[in-house]
Amino acid sequence: MLGLKMATDPRWVNLVEKSIEEILTDHAYCEQKAASSCISLIVTYSQYPDIVSSLTPIVEEEWGHFKMVLEELRIRNLTLGKPRKDEYVNLLQQKIKSIRPQYDKLLTQLLINALIEARSCERFKLLSQYCADLDLRKFYKKLMVSEAGHYTLFLKLAKSYFDPQLVDTVFDKMLELETQILSKIDLRGDRMH
Ligand SMILES: [Fe+2]
Ligand SMILES: [Fe+2]
Repeated sequence: MLGLKMATDPRWVNLVEKSIEEILTDHAYCEQKAASSCISLIVTYSQYPDIVSSLTPIVEEEWGHFKMVLEELRIRNLTLGKPRKDEYVNLLQQKIKSIRPQYDKLLTQLLINALIEARSCERFKLLSQYCADLDLRKFYKKLMVSEAGHYTLFLKLAKSYFDPQLVDTVFDKMLELETQILSKIDLRGDRMH
């Protein structure tokens, strides 16, 4: 799905069902980080008008997702916990940034964002299909469509600033690394990734 080289083990959904408060908490912070990451791209690359104009509405959208997750917690009488170490994203950033020769920083950041959107979208899809909580199925279906759009946008931006063939090659390499990282990380029901 969306170029990913490894599908998530479907047993992940069963683990999630046992830790709804934890997964919604982790998910809320994923949305917060997605908004923060777009703000940081806008601030760092303010001289690129397409980055500013296309990512400004995404900040709002991701923050809207954050609010939607809070609402899912509220209607279940659950509370937002503390943010946890994001092992998946940290390892992804670390591994990708240690590749030599280094890729252009903008290209790297756009593709890391595309990759995280793709994996989130894949996990949301699993929840939208198999989660026992039918309201959560609907919730994740909506978000899945939105994150798929973000994946496409980040790739499109990358291809507008860099040679499309280079973008495909670099992205393929990143997808490979992502598979290695995921296979090292424990499958946990309290983590979105
Ligand atoms: Fe989102
Ligand atoms: Fe997103």
